[in-house]
Amino acid sequence: MDDLDLLVDLHKPGHRQGPGADAETERALDLAGIDRSASVKIADIGCGTGASTLLLARLLNARITAVDFLQDFLDVLEERAEKLGVADRVSTLACSMDELSFADGELDVIWSEGAIYNIGFEKGVAGWKRFLKPGGLLVASEITWLTDRRPAELQGHWDREYPEIDTASAKIRVLEKHGYTPIGYFVLPEHCWLDEYYRPMQARFDDFLERHGHSAEARGLVAAEQKEIALYETCKAHFGYGVYVARKVA
Ligand SMILES: C[S@@+](CC[C@H](N)C(=O)[O-])C[C@H]1O[C@@H](n2cnc3c(N)ncnc32)[C@H](O)[C@@H]1O
Repeated sequence: MDDLDLLVDLHKPGHRQGPGADAETERALDLAGIDRSASVKIADIGCGTGASTLLLARLLNARITAVDFLQDFLDVLEERAEKLGVADRVSTLACSMDELSFADGELDVIWSEGAIYNIGFEKGVAGWKRFLKPGGLLVASEITWLTDRRPAELQGHWDREYPEIDTASAKIRVLEKHGYTPIGYFVLPEHCWLDEYYRPMQARFDDFLERHGHSAEARGLVAAEQKEIALYETCKAHFGYGVYVARKVA
């Protein structure tokens, strides 16, 4: 099994593959002011196994295209949609988020939780805009500095991992530069990281290691995840996920 297969095997059983929670998805929905009875077309980009897609499908009168480049995650999403009785409103698309083929102006809403960093926030918000109707909404969570100053070691870590990390004011400036009106921002609370994402992942480590005969690669992945968790626990005052809600200028 290669490293990507291992990553998929560890994360596929998770309710979600990144920080977030149903209450915060709903909070973003309310900030965006989406009418729950209006018929809307949504793309959930980097959807994983569907934590946000399935909640949006239950709360809204929406047709949702759930996009991820990992078919394994989409297969789980489809099973979950069937079980929840929302499969008729959800379709999946295995595609990279920088090669989307929606028509110009096709979407009312673009949703993306914990995923836009894969191509970079600026490239994502600039590239996806054409798919939105004038006045359409973008809701995206993005790694964000929560303080103006931080320890040099932490700065060095993120400069290596994701140099586009920045403060909320800088992210909002990027939205404005690319033709959006920012209409809301909040920070995901700690429980979105610890209770919803990291603790359930840690609870899967033993089974995961057993499944892979405690191979060096499997132990390496667990160690990398533990390191990421420790970094969050130590430095959570300085970074987190910001949730950005913005409207495409008409
Ligand atoms: C941190 S996970 C978040 C998943 C989900 N939104 C959630 O919050 O549970 C990031 C997701 O982006 C997907 N992804 C990474 N790079 C991608 C790309 N270039 N195109 C499409 N999806 C991608 C991964 O497969 C993964 O499902």
